[in-house]
Amino acid sequence: MQPGIALVTGGAAGIGRAVTLRLLADGYDVVVIDRQPGELPPAVEFLQADQRDEEAWRRALAASIERFGAAPSALVLNAAIGGAAVVGDIETVSIERWQEVFEVNVTGAVLGLRACLPAMVAEGSGSVVIMASVDAFLAEQGAVAYACSKATLLQLGRCVAVDYARRGVRVNVVCPGIVDTPGFRAHLGTSADPARFESYRTQRTPLERFLDPTEVAGVVSFLLGPDASGMTGSAVVVDAGLTASYDFRSGEEGA
Ligand SMILES: NC(=O)c1ccc[n+]([C@@H]2O[C@H](COP(=O)([O-])OP(=O)(O)OC[C@H]3O[C@@H](n4cnc5c(N)ncnc54)[C@H](O)[C@@H]3O)[C@@H](O)[C@H]2O)c1
Repeated sequence: MQPGIALVTGGAAGIGRAVTLRLLADGYDVVVIDRQPGELPPAVEFLQADQRDEEAWRRALAASIERFGAAPSALVLNAAIGGAAVVGDIETVSIERWQEVFEVNVTGAVLGLRACLPAMVAEGSGSVVIMASVDAFLAEQGAVAYACSKATLLQLGRCVAVDYARRGVRVNVVCPGIVDTPGFRAHLGTSADPARFESYRTQRTPLERFLDPTEVAGVVSFLLGPDASGMTGSAVVVDAGLTASYDFRSGEEGA
């Protein structure tokens, strides 16, 4: 598929912003939905809205048609809440928070799919990337709501991939490890000892660093594009080696 029109959620910050800039550089016209304003180039069609709002998706499609002449052929469902905002185990996370995480992370993505798939099917081609997390596979302590929402997104990606494979739409899921974004920094900031937390997490990661958002954006660009034409329903892990080991040692333990 040639670069066409891409719609990115959460494009004002972090990974979504890096994806937006990468897709612009790839030659896409880009529409962004984000609930906070962001400093994006004027070439981007920016809609400040909450992805839980069905009407916002209608407005985004209308804006895409108005400005770029067609509905999006590429969709990146990246916006989510997590980290410090939803820390807790199954007893301490409030039901309101649990519902909010699922409404934003899962229902928001479902609304995006329902809004964008019909035009892709009508064209007989489209490509979707859903941003999950390594938490879709593995449990992260104190993040039950977030991790369950990400596991649901992984299965959502597989189900939609299978349902739409013969209608010309590919759907793939990206599962990042630790990425240095405003969202992750906010999470770090709530730790009792952020410097120690950061050092531990860095040491625990085989590549010994957090990922840069551009390193995830590159994978999204690949999955949306023609070099990934044989991929649908895949979960692509981008985690600096984090989940390749269960007991990675830095050397200080005498291993
Ligand atoms: N940073 C990491 O370490 C990491 C790791 C694994 C997965 N992820 C996933 O990557 C994605 C991006 O994470 P990030 O770290 O860049 O986050 P971030 O918090 O830095 O940025 C997220 C963006 O999404 C927007 N957003 C949040 N809720 C929204 C809503 N309801 N409607 C519209 N916009 C909304 C925010 O305003 C923000 O601009 C998320 O799905 C996250 O779960 C991040």
